[in-house]
Amino acid sequence: MCGITGYIGYRNAYPIIIKGLQRLEYRGYDSAGILLYNDNEDALISKTKGKVSDLEELMNSGISKEGNIGFGHTRWATHGVPNDVNSHPHTSNSGNLVIIHNGIIENYDSIKKELTKRGYTFKSDTDTEVLINLIEEVKKTNNCKLGKAIQIALNEVIGAYAITVFDKEKPDELVVARLGSPIAIGIGKENKEFFIASDASPFIEYTKNAIYLEDGEMAIIRKDKEIEIRKINDDSIITPEIQQLKMNLEQIEKGGYDHFMLKEIYEQPHAITDTYRGRLIANKGIIRMAGIDDNMEKFLNADRIIIVACGTSWHAGLVAEYLFEDLARIPVEVEYASEFRYRNPIINDNDVVIAISQSGETADTLAAIKLAKEKGAFVFGICNVVGSSIAREAHAGAYTHAGPEIGVASTKAFTTQITLLSLIALKLGKKKGNLSNAKYHNYLQELELIPKKVESLLAIDEKVKHIASVYKDATNCLYLGRGFNFPVALEGALKLKEISYIHAEGYPAAEMKHGPIALIDENMPIFVIATNKGHYEKVVSNIQEIKARKGKIIAIVTEGDTTVKEIADHIIEIPDTEEAFTPLLTTIPFQLLSYHIAVMLNRNVDQPRNLAKAVTVE
Ligand code: G6P
Repeated sequence: MCGITGYIGYRNAYPIIIKGLQRLEYRGYDSAGILLYNDNEDALISKTKGKVSDLEELMNSGISKEGNIGFGHTRWATHGVPNDVNSHPHTSNSGNLVIIHNGIIENYDSIKKELTKRGYTFKSDTDTEVLINLIEEVKKTNNCKLGKAIQIALNEVIGAYAITVFDKEKPDELVVARLGSPIAIGIGKENKEFFIASDASPFIEYTKNAIYLEDGEMAIIRKDKEIEIRKINDDSIITPEIQQLKMNLEQIEKGGYDHFMLKEIYEQPHAITDTYRGRLIANKGIIRMAGIDDNMEKFLNADRIIIVACGTSWHAGLVAEYLFEDLARIPVEVEYASEFRYRNPIINDNDVVIAISQSGETADTLAAIKLAKEKGAFVFGICNVVGSSIAREAHAGAYTHAGPEIGVASTKAFTTQITLLSLIALKLGKKKGNLSNAKYHNYLQELELIPKKVESLLAIDEKVKHIASVYKDATNCLYLGRGFNFPVALEGALKLKEISYIHAEGYPAAEMKHGPIALIDENMPIFVIATNKGHYEKVVSNIQEIKARKGKIIAIVTEGDTTVKEIADHIIEIPDTEEAFTPLLTTIPFQLLSYHIAVMLNRNVDQPRNLAKAVTVE
């Protein structure tokens, strides 16, 4: 994780780097640091535990902000607690080489021991400081240039990295390299300036031309010169592919909302429409998706679909299990990518693996698909971030087109993933002959109406806010759902945990009596999804069981429900829809509820403690 950004050119680097770090803060926010090189004053490093705002404060205490070369880092600690010393940048023993790093060097300990024998000393507990000293040692012993030294050193390293390195002896150059962690390079006009960043957001207002380094590539970036890209493990030179960025500035700003999370919750009607735009032509009964159309045989012949994902994306995968099995009658297994990759899974040529990932950078999901590919499976990626590692690694895929999601707690990514998965399930269901024409058309029309229904549902915000005020001091909460809405119960509980730090558990409603029921008393809020289709009566019985034990019931019901209204302490109504699409609606009140509770508890909504948006370490 961690965010890295850099600049080399003719402008003052400081404002570009600080603003860039603010935009990358979703990747990590336990400490921040900066290097600025100024011809007259040498290279200045400033770093501190805390947020980018703490770094800014430090810089405002009289430190020079001059220089048109530099880089910055926002950290999510892996090796070493968050403190000033462990913050990046890190400097080599001679003081000449300076590095920022995103990732983990797994064999850092043995390298550190070897370097210690050779007289190196270390100030921090980080793997990064070991890496920069290894580069220094290689440079010295081989008497070579920085680029060559980095190349040799990286071939000795096991792990994942995106690094940027500066050498005081060659201050008009920055060297970047990647393996497993992303790096984008923004190219200014006529090669007069270059931007470096973990994603393109720090430089979007300066250039739309970007190169995304591939795994195993490094780039030497010099002022006024063509960028030089080569492979790390041999000397081959790469001709870079320059991509045109579609992102705009407005998309990565708060646009009048107090938090990105709230903005992203409210963006959902739009985002869902963007997901199906050009793909769903409901009145003609058409679903068009190139990634599926071009590989239809693979899907139709699949013995099973294996879905790999983490976090909220895993919950979307669980919804997909219900969608694919119900609509397309294809057996589905949903796996945590982190478990899948290490348990020697049985994968056959006829398996289709779907990887779901908002960022497209989650290390475990990426590793899981690499393994699946090795074992001969066809891999389909569902990502939000265009050009991300998972999107590029997969054989084929589809983007959710949700727009940048910046709040660490995922919201619109989840609903757009489900929208996309619904399109795929419907398309396959129709092709396999499992859906009658009438049913299929009905589903398509209903899916097209979802954005309007989400829009109308957002009007319950005030009511949810009131419910939040009643339960904000709870220490434990239970979320229950069945069928398609069991994964929504898991997601509801996750949202609350992530941003309010209240303990919450999601459970299949009927499973409650095998454990969680013991927790129920008059202080326990229980959020139950009891929409009118599927297992409505069964859920009503579960609600009665809670009532009998004096639990507080907050029920999500379909508009017009009268039965649950009589029993529950609070009800939240959602518009009627097909059961398969209810997760797209039932999840909205849970997002709002977590949001309001977190705000009332004064939590950092967009950057909850210990979490990061893109988990690029395993
Ligand atoms: C982190 C984020 C979650 C996200 C998960 C998977 O834990 O905080 O919001 O669901 O990673 O991320 P991905 O980008 O693969 O969907």
